[in-house]
Amino acid sequence: MSDKARLVVMISGNGSNLQAIIDAVEAGALPAQIVCVVSNKAKAYGLVRAEKHQIPTAVLSRKKGVSRAVYDAELGHFVANFQPDWVVLAGWMLVLSLEFLRFFPNRVINLHPALPGQFPGTHAIERAFAAYQRGELSQTGIMVHLVPDEGIDDGPVLATRTVPILPHDTLDSLEERTHATEHQLLVDVLRRLIQGVIDVPL
Ligand code: GRF
Repeated sequence: MSDKARLVVMISGNGSNLQAIIDAVEAGALPAQIVCVVSNKAKAYGLVRAEKHQIPTAVLSRKKGVSRAVYDAELGHFVANFQPDWVVLAGWMLVLSLEFLRFFPNRVINLHPALPGQFPGTHAIERAFAAYQRGELSQTGIMVHLVPDEGIDDGPVLATRTVPILPHDTLDSLEERTHATEHQLLVDVLRRLIQGVIDVPL
């Protein structure tokens, strides 16, 4: 029997945050095992990252004609079979309904590259940078939160970090700084959840 937390990591793309979790697990810095990486996209580079580390992967795409409710329920059953302690949405680009979430109350966490309430949805960093250029904000940030329902990038906040925007920043440099901050915060939050330092009701 392993006393390591069981993680299912769900991705849709590059998987740099997945990589941060893999690296932390392999370095012994996170008492966890990734029991499966699930992608809704067959071409997600994160799948290659997982395979390089002998982590089981699965592609579950929503097929034409399949309702969201049916897809989410099937996805929920599939993920539940891995008996995860935590389901980590690390760049998972589909909104999950209660048909999925009901399997994992208080156990699904999401990462968003903006502060709570800011820029929900896609292209958050780009929109933050545009707002900075218009003089509407002086910094941005990131957050990790629980996913209780279908709210987009919304839910009980577990942790935030601010990310400064510097005068010489380009969108690329801001994205790089934001992602580097995400990689640290996601691993840090997972460690604290697993150790029970962050209290989440079971
Ligand atoms: C991250 O910025 C995350 O906050 C957002 O999607 C991006 C995923 O990046 N939800 P990656 O696939 O982990 O590199």
